Amino acid sequence: MRRLDQLLANLGYCSRREARAWIQAGRVTVRGVVVDDFGAKADPADVRVDGEPLDHPDGLLLLLHKPAGLVCSHDEREGPNVYSLLPLRWRGRNPAVTSIGRLDKDTSGLLLLTDQTELVHRLTSPKHKVPKVYRATLSAEVSRALIPLFASGTLLLKDEKDPCAPAALKILSPREAELTLTEGRYHQVRRMFASQGVEVLALHRARFGPLELGGLPVGQWREVPPGTFAAT
Ligand code: URA
Repeated sequence: MRRLDQLLANLGYCSRREARAWIQAGRVTVRGVVVDDFGAKADPADVRVDGEPLDHPDGLLLLLHKPAGLVCSHDEREGPNVYSLLPLRWRGRNPAVTSIGRLDKDTSGLLLLTDQTELVHRLTSPKHKVPKVYRATLSAEVSRALIPLFASGTLLLKDEKDPCAPAALKILSPREAELTLTEGRYHQVRRMFASQGVEVLALHRARFGPLELGGLPVGQWREVPPGTFAAT
């Protein structure tokens, strides 16, 4: 049961003050009955605004095809962000919709977005080892010697005290490789290749756990079916 004014504000409909005005104006019903007491509590599934059921009252989980050029930070000073691609109402949610892990500004590909804080913690925790697959375009030919090195669990990145967890490298062509990581350190793919003198010229995330982009166009999102990460 949730307080009506708080519920509408947290789902991004409007401010709490505006929610009170909407409720007093009779725009909100609970089980078909107008409730003009903004402090009343209700099960979100029973609430209608202007006759419409609430917009995703149980939370959002979205898969976005992130374009290069947008940041995952909410800080406007860091430039245009991925949240600008979402409907306005979702951008006003509290808890805010946020990315599950981050992709660099220059990285494209599969990015999960959610307002479910528990899910963010669970899926970014190294303990859960969710595999993430990256495709990298490289500045130089990639040596096959990197395959056992990256798989060894001994590669130590600059300024870090723990070596990288074993990572699977697949060479796709002389300057293209696919790398599967189970952790998400800062700039990890770029830094792993840089440690071997190879620059990543372009980076794309193709997979996150069981999810792939499929044919989703760049800049578009789709909902992830509930229960997808239930067992993770
Ligand atoms: N590794 C990187 O270097 N950048 C990303 O965006 C993701 C993983």
